[in-house]
Amino acid sequence: MGDCLFSFYSSLAPALPLLYPSPSRQHILAMWGPAVITLLLGANVVSAQTFKRLGGCPTLGCVFPPDQTDFLVGQLFDIRLEVHAPVNGSEAAHGGVPDEKFTFCIQSGKGACKNAAEFFGVKEPALEKWTFSYFEDLFAQDAKTPTVVNVAAKAYRGLKLTTPGTYQARLSYYGNSQTVANWVVRQPAKKRQAKNVLFFIGDGMTQSMITAARLIAHKSINGRYQSLMQMDQMDYLGHQMTHSLDSFITDSANSATALYTGKKASVSALNVYADSSPNSFDDAKLETIAELFRRLIGGPIGMVSTAYIADATPAALCAHTRDRGQSPQIIQEYLNNAVSVNGTISWPTGCDGPDVVFGGGAENFIAGPTSPGGADYYKAFQAKGYDVVYNNTQLQAIGNDKKVLGIFSKSNMAKWVDRHVFPENLKNQKNSPTGDGTDAIDQPGLKEMTIKAIDVLQERQKKKNTGWFMMSEAASIDKMMHVLDYDRALGELLELDDTIRASIAHLKKIGEYENTLIVVTADHGHGFDVFGSADTKYLAAQTDDRKKRSAIGMYESSGLSGYTVAPGSLPTNDTAVFGTEGPNFPVQWNPRYTYAAGFGANPDHRETYAINTKGPRLPATAATAGDNQVNPVDQPNGFIVNGTLPIDEPQGVHSLTDVSVFANGPGAEAFRGVYNNIDIFFKIADALALGSGHV
Ligand SMILES: *[C@@H]1O[C@H](CO)[C@@H](O)[C@H](O)[C@H]1NC(C)=O
Ligand SMILES: *[C@@H]1O[C@H](CO)[C@@H](O)[C@H](O)[C@H]1NC(C)=O
Ligand SMILES: *[C@@H]1O[C@H](CO)[C@@H](O)[C@H](O)[C@H]1NC(C)=O
Ligand SMILES: *[C@@H]1O[C@H](CO)[C@@H](O)[C@H](O)[C@H]1NC(C)=O
Ligand SMILES: [Zn+2]
Repeated sequence: MGDCLFSFYSSLAPALPLLYPSPSRQHILAMWGPAVITLLLGANVVSAQTFKRLGGCPTLGCVFPPDQTDFLVGQLFDIRLEVHAPVNGSEAAHGGVPDEKFTFCIQSGKGACKNAAEFFGVKEPALEKWTFSYFEDLFAQDAKTPTVVNVAAKAYRGLKLTTPGTYQARLSYYGNSQTVANWVVRQPAKKRQAKNVLFFIGDGMTQSMITAARLIAHKSINGRYQSLMQMDQMDYLGHQMTHSLDSFITDSANSATALYTGKKASVSALNVYADSSPNSFDDAKLETIAELFRRLIGGPIGMVSTAYIADATPAALCAHTRDRGQSPQIIQEYLNNAVSVNGTISWPTGCDGPDVVFGGGAENFIAGPTSPGGADYYKAFQAKGYDVVYNNTQLQAIGNDKKVLGIFSKSNMAKWVDRHVFPENLKNQKNSPTGDGTDAIDQPGLKEMTIKAIDVLQERQKKKNTGWFMMSEAASIDKMMHVLDYDRALGELLELDDTIRASIAHLKKIGEYENTLIVVTADHGHGFDVFGSADTKYLAAQTDDRKKRSAIGMYESSGLSGYTVAPGSLPTNDTAVFGTEGPNFPVQWNPRYTYAAGFGANPDHRETYAINTKGPRLPATAATAGDNQVNPVDQPNGFIVNGTLPIDEPQGVHSLTDVSVFANGPGAEAFRGVYNNIDIFFKIADALALGSGHV
């Protein structure tokens, strides 16, 4: 949802402002959790769970961090309290006047509940007041009758809990109302197992995509694969549940927040609990694994992505905002820690400028309307000691001792399929990261960026032997799935797999493999799967929509993979990377017999099952009432597949599925089994003994 809007605008029209998801799309069905309990108790009935007054706050008193939150010992966080007085609508109460005399206390274990300011040894925060409005349901939205809510609020900043155990936070308001939050402070392992952490995210990557990628890139004889994906060969496999705080379908901002902070958050929120105030920088902040690694261990941090580098998955390492669309401020926060917008109190920590920042998104660095304060942000990074590189040639040539900013294109970086199979598509993009209007032809892939990042981090940790932390993201698995461009999505997935293989080989070469925890996972899924083969020649020759569908080979007619796999046929000299597994990519992407794949949630579109040779797909356009969404120039020989989404959504959307977690190295055995996305933060913290003896 929000994510689709973002990936759509950022992949196709980088100059357009990033739109904030509309309220209707922002609130997906979430009929569960505390709200259900509230209904059973009959208090403060919330009428429609898809349009929430404030996610994570079913009653009129809100405590963030909310009930069921786990903290790492010493992890920094803010508290936000809100007392709501709806002026009208189904919850109208208290004459629209919020209780300004609310009290808040914290109880440690079985002790007494102490006033929070006293408990944390901070000044009693000032009372804040604002008004917001929201729609209670689709009928209210159609009728344009928002519910208005007056708010009294407080925020406590930069706190930590340094003793492990259970805590209860209690907000008392309107006389006898109370909101209780149970918190657990977890003690990490005492002994550090991993020196380095290499964390890979295949954005939107599900097991069905990994299966499809294996099908087209690895040779099978009589039903048995002759080579495997690198992910298939990892030592430990688990899977994680991705639901968010207040919706069961996540976007990449709140799922990355869960992975990096160990806290469930809301759609579009980066390392904050979304509050109801208009300022998107005053929400309750949370310390991330990267910030903790910096603050407690003092080691170097790497951020690598094939997306524009202010996109949610990289941003969640270091940025804190309720609105992932605030790209300029996000870039500013990479460099200068938390930014003060609209007078917001600053955050006491940060990434202090990640040592490696590699990706796209030059529009946020070139002086202009989408750079921080309109300034030249390449210069701002240089002024803080960074080397700046704009293409792969420069990247490979640069030394490893200084911090490096590598921005290789405007918007999202080119896709593997276009770089390797259809390089003509890199031309006429006018997307040079220097802003000189030329094309960004010499872009590195995820593999080149990741290997170089390892070298820089390895060099920069040497002095104090701190080890390093890196996140490397294959962003366009997700972006290409959104536009139903399955071939490009699988190309990105195969590139991720190739990158993992190359990283393992490289770590062995530099003697760090045994010291490095490698985790590979996704942030959420898309409802994609393969259900047969497609005879693209027969399909294209038919004129009748329904007759075209007989080109699909089901069960015994699916046959074998039509893709050719030939070791050594790619234009590369890098034998260390390909090893004994062959090149791990198909050498021919447009065979007559392709795979037939589909989506669990899609816009109206046409399907041919043939690769788009001219660049990423644009399957549909946002339609107005009555029209269908089919983009007439996309796969014109295909048959129409009617969509399942609202007609203003021209892309596929994320889905509910759990996603896989693969792990190797010290601490990896903890990643077995089924767990929550937030647990990944605690498992990594354990491997690093993060917070043990550092608080
Ligand atoms: C609540 O009041 C506002 C402002 O007076 C009005 O615009 C809105 O339609 C009202 N909403 C409802 C649900 O009555
Ligand atoms: C700053 O405050 C104004 C007025 O409340 C609000 O409209 C704007 O969205 C805020 N800016 C951000 C980035 O939150
Ligand atoms: C790489 O970027 C530098 C600096 O902008 C430029 O001088 C050089 O020609 C570029 N190299 C290639 C191969 O594009
Ligand atoms: C798609 O749906 C429309 C109605 O919305 C219908 O007229 C049309 O026949 C459907 N097309 C196909 C191929 O099912
Ligand atoms: Zn997405």
